[in-house]
Amino acid sequence: MRVFIVYAHPSEDSFTKEVRDSFIAGLESAGHRYVLSDLYKMNFKTDMSEDEYLREAYYRRELSLPADVIAEQEKINSSDAIAFISPLFWSDAPAKLVGWFDRVWTYGFAYGENRAMKQLEKGLVILSAGNTMEYFHQTGIYGALEKVMLYDRLFDRVKEKELIILDATSREKEQREQNWKPHLERVFRAGQKIGM
Ligand SMILES: Cc1cc2nc3c(=O)[nH]c(=O)nc-3n(C[C@H](O)[C@H](O)[C@H](O)COP(=O)(O)O)c2cc1C
Repeated sequence: MRVFIVYAHPSEDSFTKEVRDSFIAGLESAGHRYVLSDLYKMNFKTDMSEDEYLREAYYRRELSLPADVIAEQEKINSSDAIAFISPLFWSDAPAKLVGWFDRVWTYGFAYGENRAMKQLEKGLVILSAGNTMEYFHQTGIYGALEKVMLYDRLFDRVKEKELIILDATSREKEQREQNWKPHLERVFRAGQKIGM
């Protein structure tokens, strides 16, 4: 299986970078191939131009798309699965990744009639987070993330969807280091069993 990884973290000195590497190690151990978009490293532009906005607002499918958007769409259509890996920022994906959806999920590709986007077999959303799962359930944030990430952004664009939150990993938490190991093992296995 070929997996497109959309990765968004501003620093290599991070737990999320370890998550990315464990996931890739899991993929490779099972013989999967992958292509990576490292959005901060690519300096991926995440705010829409006026032309891009007007194309979406008026459903002008015939208008051309920027080369960087086409390149991302080609990575999607040449893959079988997609995995998003990022930290949780203010109870959402980082603006870098949210802006990727704004620009890459275009009319005629990700929505509208006769969409050009291939339906992917699997969509995985992996978010690292400072808070605990208990907190996310108590506050309803878990449900909100599930709705927005899986049922809106991924929707029927993928057949099988999964949200993985790797919790309690912020630096102020004493147990941060202990929390890393099971989380990294979990994403390694998620990479290994993707598509099974
Ligand atoms: C700007 C910013 C906003 C954040 N917002 C949240 C949040 O809403 N909920 C949460 O659990 N953690 C939040 N965090 C913590 C990150 O998710 C944390 O960085 C993550 O657990 C992984 O650590 P890493 O940065 O070493 O990869 C935030 C961190 C930053 C820098």
